[in-house]
Parts: sequence; C-alpha cells; structure tokens
Amino acid sequence: MDISLKGKRALITGASSGLGEVIAKEFAADGAKIGLNYHSEAEAAGKIASEIRKNGASVLALQADVSDAGSVEVMINTFVKEWGGIDILVNNAGIDGVRSLVWESNISEWEKVVKINLFGPFYCAREVLKYMVAQKSGVILNITSVHENIPWSGYSGYTAAKAGLSMLTKTMAQEVGSLGIRIMSLAPGAIKTPINQSVWNNPETLGNLLKKIPLGRMGECEEVARVAAFLVSDYASYVTGSTIFVDGAMIDYSNFTHGG
Ligand code: BGC
Repeated sequence: MDISLKGKRALITGASSGLGEVIAKEFAADGAKIGLNYHSEAEAAGKIASEIRKNGASVLALQADVSDAGSVEVMINTFVKEWGGIDILVNNAGIDGVRSLVWESNISEWEKVVKINLFGPFYCAREVLKYMVAQKSGVILNITSVHENIPWSGYSGYTAAKAGLSMLTKTMAQEVGSLGIRIMSLAPGAIKTPINQSVWNNPETLGNLLKKIPLGRMGECEEVARVAAFLVSDYASYVTGSTIFVDGAMIDYSNFTHGG
C-alpha cells in the first residue's frame, strides 16, 4: 500500500517541533503541499520548511496563535489565497501545561491549556470548514491523547480539553458527513517528544512510565505520523467520527497485565 497525498493542500498546526514537525515531513514526502503553522519558534519552523522544500515539496510557514480566533482567520485566509483551497487540517498544536491540583491551580494557566488544546482546534476547524463545506470535500484530523480517556492527576485542564476535543470530533463528523467530509481523532500515548522530555530523560520516571505501556516502550513520532498519513488518505475513506489510538495499548489498563 503506497500512501499518496499528491496535490493535497494540508495545514498542520504546531509544526515547529515534536509530532507536528514529523507529521508535516511525512505528508510532504507523500506528495502534499504543506502549511506549516508555528507560534513562536520562527527559526525552527524556517529550518523545517527549507528541509521540506529541499526534498521537493511546496511549503508555506505560517505564524499564528491557534488560541486567538483572529490570528487563525488570517492564517487560513493566507493559506487559501496561496493554494486556492484546503484539503487537510491537522489540529496538532497543544501543551500539557504546568502540573497542579485543581484547588491549587492558577486560573489563567488553566484557561491557557484549554484555549490552546480545545478552542484552538475549534477555531481552526471553524475557518477551514467554511471552505471544505463549499468544496464538499476535506479531512480534519484532531490530535487528542490517551488522556481523552485516562484521567491524569494534576492535568485537569489538559484532560478536560482532550475529552472535549474528542466529542467535538464526533459532533463535527455528524454535521459534515453527508458532504463527504471526514473528521477523526488520533490519540497518541507516550510518544518521545519535547513535551515529555523531563519524564523520559530521567530513568526513574521513565521506568514508571514504561510500566503503563503493555508494548513496553515509548512510541516514536514516525509511528504516529504514518498512521496520520493513512487516516487523511483515501485508503481511510470509510473512517470518520471516531478516535484511533496509537499508544502501545496504554489505554488497556496495563496495571492488570499481571492479574487483578
Ligand atoms: C502527553 C504526554 C504524556 C502522554 C502519556 C500525552 O498526551 O502530552 O506528556 O507523556 O500523554 O501520558
């Protein structure tokens, strides 16, 4: 099976590092034109863009704060002006936020996490769907997390946002199904990225994490990017409205691996 995204115009948010970067590179290698969104890491985004260009794909680096509706509108308009439409949106931008228990949490920190992880995908989908609905085609992939299912003490804003995003996926998929537009969630588990570096850098916390993963190891960004490419491709033409987990069975209650 040879995945082709030839000629598809794809916008990936939060693509200046981690999963977003690797998804952008994978889609470019599969023939897509890339809109590479970044927030503050202009230099990193520029480097990734020129690497993608060197490999023969078209790419547009687009600065925008996904948690700001006005900024998102400008970004999508620029993208569509350049390429005449949009075929794929990957809502990837996200942050874990600072660990804090609910009663000790700072309201503006909590709101920031929810704004980036939930409002951001909503703002991007809202703008992009205006074009996709008119075209009667398109795919949106929302990057959620195993924490759309698994509670995570100290990260209530993150878990609430990811669970919310999962339901937003389902609701949007219902709204646009009759137009042939597909909307899915991809839920990564513990993938080695800068977001969780402090955990995998420390043997003790890493050991603790690995006990939670039946496959016994963390995932690599490429392992997520390949599934993302499949899901946005025509090979997945009958997949919509659900979450696909790429997590080494982390959601599979691994504490029960050795009996109840
Ligand atoms: C978080 C990571 C965490 C993983 C597994 C992800 O959604 O962003 O920091 O390692 O879930 O808990």
